[in-house]
Amino acid sequence: MTMEILYSFLVVGHFIGLAAIVGPFLVQMRRNSDFAIGAVLGGAITQLVTGIALTGIAASQIEDYTKIFVKLGLALLVFVAALLGWLRARKSGNTRGVKPFFHAAGGLALVNTVVAVFA
Ligand code: HEM
Repeated sequence: MTMEILYSFLVVGHFIGLAAIVGPFLVQMRRNSDFAIGAVLGGAITQLVTGIALTGIAASQIEDYTKIFVKLGLALLVFVAALLGWLRARKSGNTRGVKPFFHAAGGLALVNTVVAVFA
């Protein structure tokens, strides 16, 4: 029972992390500056932590890890893109050069959502 409650909290966290990446991306994708890259980085970290914890708890029920590994690989790419964008913004003091990283992180998170639901 306690494990089920923890699992449910982690699923909620997984959706909040998804929102923190895809939300800013959809709202700000047409901009050239002022990207909420910090939120995207926070979301990417949240997805890795909650996703790995969910997998750990559900391990005995998971028969095929292909989808999990694909999701993990994509989530790592989302994290690296968000981190590089965030570091660039911190170094230059603005988010003007962040656009490619912001788009890579947002786009790959959308791909991961499709993988999560269809695969
Ligand atoms: C950008 C990264 C990620 C996104 C956008 C994402 C998206 C999603 C979505 C939309 C669901 C719900 C699917 C459904 O219930 O049908 C889900 C569930 C899940 N994800 Fe992720 N995910 C990400 C990263 C990860 C990672 C890195 C892992 C594990 C290494 C992971 C493991 C899981 C597991 C185990 C579930 C099943 C939860 C359940 O419904 O019981 N996810 N993910």
